[in-house]
Amino acid sequence: MSLSEQIENPFLPEPARIVRQYDLIKDHRFFQIRFIDMNRAMSFDYVPGQFAMLSIPGVGEAPFSISSTPSRPGILEMGIRRTGNLTRALFKKKDNDIVYLRGPYGNGFKIEPMVERDIIIVAGGLGVIPLRSILYFVLDNRDQFDELYFLYGARNPNEFLFKNEFFQIKAREDIDCLYSVDKDTTGDWTENTGVVTSLFQKLPKIDPQTTTAVVCGPPIMYKFVIKELLKLKIPKNMIQMTLERRMKCGVGKCGHCALDHIYTCIDGPIFTYWDTLHFRELI
Ligand SMILES: Cc1cc2nc3c(=O)[nH]c(=O)nc-3n(C[C@H](O)[C@H](O)[C@H](O)COP(=O)(O)OP(=O)(O)OC[C@H]3O[C@@H](n4cnc5c(N)ncnc54)[C@H](O)[C@@H]3O)c2cc1C
Ligand code: FES
Repeated sequence: MSLSEQIENPFLPEPARIVRQYDLIKDHRFFQIRFIDMNRAMSFDYVPGQFAMLSIPGVGEAPFSISSTPSRPGILEMGIRRTGNLTRALFKKKDNDIVYLRGPYGNGFKIEPMVERDIIIVAGGLGVIPLRSILYFVLDNRDQFDELYFLYGARNPNEFLFKNEFFQIKAREDIDCLYSVDKDTTGDWTENTGVVTSLFQKLPKIDPQTTTAVVCGPPIMYKFVIKELLKLKIPKNMIQMTLERRMKCGVGKCGHCALDHIYTCIDGPIFTYWDTLHFRELI
């Protein structure tokens, strides 16, 4: 089968090599994966917030957010939590082993409403995995965006993902990073202690008319983060959120992710707060 036929068939997984992997925290691992076909690797076009279906033949397939940025093509990065059959098998893979990928799927973040505006990225726990993509996308295209605020909260310092890289970013002058843990279980945490919403009081004065927010975290977090964003008077359609649903096909065929007339694998996983007011079951 030719490459163009493969790309046209959205169901056909393509072989990809695990280039590098390391543990982020217990049971959470970072993977760098590259399509075997270098043309495909370099032309795989996605926007931050999209996901790919990763499979291991004979084991299964599941959606995972793309954590890398399209501004650094060639390698796809994913942060994966060991939960069930597929992820257990994946964690047994060695560097250079082959897995299969298809995608990219989903709508991804709308970049246009962020251009030449201030951006607040709010991540809680595992939610930082998809947001890492938009974070690096903005940093790599820094002149197209105004102020950048990155608020990230984890339960404790041992669950803080990407610690080294995020503390390196903190040293940059073109981003304001605010980090928090609910509880300092180590005694050597130097940043804020408290839930992620406690970071909002550390933000400088925000102009809501020129600000876009992106949010991803555990379901409980949305309610409180949105409350803070609304207090800042950020318009409801300028709050973009990643909302995951159980998915199987990823391409609007199986109905697993359907809510009313929308398929979250196609119309999502990114929705604005405005969207969620019309589809309350989304959160
Ligand atoms: C759009 C999208 C993006 C995702 N991105 C990531 C990611 O970046 N990193 C990551 O680790 N996982 C991500 N997931 C979740 C991942 O797809 C599931 O955890 C997947 O089921 C793991 O497969 P498994 O066979 O190992 O576990 P399974 O055997 O399928 O499930 C193991 C356990 O996880 C629970 N579970 C399965 N799916 C979900 C889900 N969607 N939400 C909550 N609990 C679930 C099951 O109830 C069960 O308890 C994403 C899901 C979606 C829909
Ligand atoms: S996952 Fe099959 S329709 Fe969305």
